[in-house]
Amino acid sequence: MAEQVSADLMSRVVALCKRRGIIFQSSDIYGGINGFWDYGPNGVPLRRSVEQNWWRYMVEDRDNVVGLDSTIICHPEVWRASGHVDQFSDSMTDCLECKKRYRVDQLEKPGVCPSCGSTRMTEPREFNLMMKTYVGPVFDEEHVAYLRAETCQPIFVDFNIVRIATRQKLPFGIAQTGKAFRNEINPRFFTFRSREFMQMEMEFFCRDEEAMDWFEYWRKERWNFYTQVLGIPENKLRLHWHEKLAHYAKAAVDIEFEFPFGWGEIEGIHHRGTWDMSRHCEFSHQEQDCKVYDQDSKESFFPTVIETSCGLDRICLMLLCNGYDEDTAETKKADKDEDTRVVLHLPPKVAPVQVAILPLSKKLEEQARPLLKDLRRYFRTDYDDSGSIGKRYRRQDEIGTPYCVTVDFDSVNDQTVTVRDRDSMSQERMEISKLPAYLMGKI
Ligand code: GAP
Repeated sequence: MAEQVSADLMSRVVALCKRRGIIFQSSDIYGGINGFWDYGPNGVPLRRSVEQNWWRYMVEDRDNVVGLDSTIICHPEVWRASGHVDQFSDSMTDCLECKKRYRVDQLEKPGVCPSCGSTRMTEPREFNLMMKTYVGPVFDEEHVAYLRAETCQPIFVDFNIVRIATRQKLPFGIAQTGKAFRNEINPRFFTFRSREFMQMEMEFFCRDEEAMDWFEYWRKERWNFYTQVLGIPENKLRLHWHEKLAHYAKAAVDIEFEFPFGWGEIEGIHHRGTWDMSRHCEFSHQEQDCKVYDQDSKESFFPTVIETSCGLDRICLMLLCNGYDEDTAETKKADKDEDTRVVLHLPPKVAPVQVAILPLSKKLEEQARPLLKDLRRYFRTDYDDSGSIGKRYRRQDEIGTPYCVTVDFDSVNDQTVTVRDRDSMSQERMEISKLPAYLMGKI
């Protein structure tokens, strides 16, 4: 029963996202392409503002973290050095009856097809997740390149250029956001496991003896980002400590969110040791670019790396699942229109529209348009003068607009408007001159 409700909730979130132009499958008119998703007019501002909040929190508000925007395609040696070409693979198996393909570690019962129940499954085969392409006009092995599978590798490669340019000394971090590509065997749960997705990563370079303190520091900082900046309730988040660690790592922990389909990883905080820097040194033979010189001991050493790595699309999905709500009784009382109100309780700072201007009549344009122009300077706004006011509230509730401002015929005389709060549905009459400051305080 619980599973049924959860599956239902997930399909409602997916339906809402398409209906309101938030997220929908890529190439929809061709039947879509598995694992690829487009963000529509109401999805773009959501994703961008989450990214901007992350960038401000991780880079702009700190002296010791700087930014980078590298290319998606790098020298293929980068991915040999990182181990991706040889080892970035999942074990897959095919059902010989229904022809479906699975990741072996995702099978509930080993050797049994979850779809048709058959035990006629192929032997597990390793499948590399790197997306391949060719650079230049010749399509042969010599010209193979890879779309980056994670955004962090160029950070390691550019470490020294960035360090010198910014005159940073250890400890300091380099952050980057951008697209990553993985040829996932089984994309699923809407955008949760996609083949093209956005990552937001920060690699923090420090001395080995300080690394575990920084690991703890960043673990707490990242938890705060979700609870304080994005307002996710603590009881919907948990830490998952990795027991099996890579040989070079000293600690790894995931921050997970309780999605309708179960707990899922949002972010990993990893102690990566000196693995990446030493591998790039070995493959590039550029020791001076991968090491740091210590004035005291007069020796060079590889910095140890603490990584914070999250998926932007997963964070958006978390906000959508966490914010999705349907209420009934309250609706009738407050808006006297339809029975069920679908509402997205998004934090105002990431809502696609923050303030909607709703003139009660098209004749009020002369009053409403200047107000829109004024509020647009500070907020993401929308203007809607079609349909009943109840329907307009519904449309705004569905995309999570925290404040609707109604302009009516009294506004013309007394220069006041009504502000309606998405969550409480309470309405407050207010002087137009006080509106920007009031909304600023709230948003
Ligand atoms: N540099 C480390 C790294 O990439 P990861 O655990 O493979 O670590 C980090 O990925 C984050 O990227 C995950 O916590 C998740 O939020 C996101 N992510 C990974 N694979 C994804 C996929 N197929 N679709 C969407 N997000 C993904």
